[in-house]
Amino acid sequence: MIVQKLIQQYPIISDQMSVDRLTTILLYLEKILEQNIAGDITEFGCYIGTTSLFIRRMLNNFPINKDTKFYVYDSFDGLPDKVSQDISPIGQEFKKGELKISKKSLINEFKKANLIPPIIEKNWFSNIPDNALPQLIAFAYLDSDFYNSVSDSLKIVWPRLSINGQIIIDDYNREALPGVDKAINDFFFKSKLNFNLKTINHLALITKIN
Ligand SMILES: C[S@@+](CC[C@H](N)C(=O)[O-])C[C@H]1O[C@@H](n2cnc3c(N)ncnc32)[C@H](O)[C@@H]1O
Repeated sequence: MIVQKLIQQYPIISDQMSVDRLTTILLYLEKILEQNIAGDITEFGCYIGTTSLFIRRMLNNFPINKDTKFYVYDSFDGLPDKVSQDISPIGQEFKKGELKISKKSLINEFKKANLIPPIIEKNWFSNIPDNALPQLIAFAYLDSDFYNSVSDSLKIVWPRLSINGQIIIDDYNREALPGVDKAINDFFFKSKLNFNLKTINHLALITKIN
């Protein structure tokens, strides 16, 4: 109910998100908040905050989780260089510097929406210092399009993720962004990690299990 209400009530402010994907992301976040899974909420690749605004609204609807912090990460320099894993005959529009936006624009979107901004770290994922990361993560939304970007964020999130915590990776099974699936395959299927993986609406939904 909360999820449908929020999506009906508030605009999706960029073309980076669809109603279907947002519904799935927020329903999985709702489960994490309802179960009070230990840890903070994170988004790697926040851009102008299309999804972040809804994540904040969800947190506001769960006062029981009032100590839960919300962290977002972005280069604010747009996409990095592609590597060989990212090359696709389609998807030419995804190139270095695309989606560059200022940190101030993100903060402005939160101000306009009358919402408290998240903790914002401007950095390449591979350079994020330890003290800018939560010790424990309950939920991570990874939306960064390229092989190295998804791999780098997985390396950060997985060791900090609580048991029963949730990772959602955007752009799964998109021909234009083959690096996303390759990063997921290399990280999870070449390892002995305990996880469940489901896919829906071009999202990979990964739960850490015991
Ligand atoms: C598709 S957009 C994210 C859209 C956002 N989730 C939303 O809801 O509006 C991808 C973002 O990831 C960021 N990004 C990609 N690779 C990155 C990396 N390695 N380090 C930091 N930011 C990165 C880009 O700057 C861009 O803002």
